[in-house]
Amino acid sequence: MVFSDWRQEPTTSDALQMDGWTWQGTIPWIKPASRPRKGGFKQSAEFITWGVKGTLNNSRDLYLPGHFTASQPRKDRVHITQKPLEIMQQLVQICPENGVVLDPFTGSGSTGVAALREGWRFVGIELSPHYAEIAEQRLRAELTQDDFVLAGPEA
Ligand SMILES: C[S@@+](CC[C@H](N)C(=O)[O-])C[C@H]1O[C@@H](n2cnc3c(N)ncnc32)[C@H](O)[C@@H]1O
Repeated sequence: MVFSDWRQEPTTSDALQMDGWTWQGTIPWIKPASRPRKGGFKQSAEFITWGVKGTLNNSRDLYLPGHFTASQPRKDRVHITQKPLEIMQQLVQICPENGVVLDPFTGSGSTGVAALREGWRFVGIELSPHYAEIAEQRLRAELTQDDFVLAGPEA
């Protein structure tokens, strides 16, 4: 799954397919709390382009939404592009049973928190030491000490 706004949306599905994924759809995420836009239409949507390697496993008893409406509350926001957990907890459901959720751009760790809450294992990668620290704290809060493995230069 790849999040993008309207600017990257036309090329995201091409990039996904060029990398060997089978494009399965684009899910609109409506953000009611987005800023008004003077002189034009409000930019209140992001797009979640999703695909699978090979073919979709349609034997699972899994029915997920085709769109989302949610805003990340400002008071709880620790990353400028932080994703609402209510959305992420739905998105991680597509991970195959016994699979591992990977977020190579982890930011504040919302994908990881959602994955752990929903019972998946998680691997996160984050460039910024500041956000890696925030993500680590959020993930630790979801786990017991025995569950947690930290890898990397500072580990
Ligand atoms: C859109 S934000 C992710 C926000 C996250 N979903 C959340 O809810 O907090 C993308 C993150 O990717 C990180 N990033 C950018 N380039 C990266 C790279 N090459 N490797 C790992 N992380 C990277 C940025 O530092 C940023 O925190």
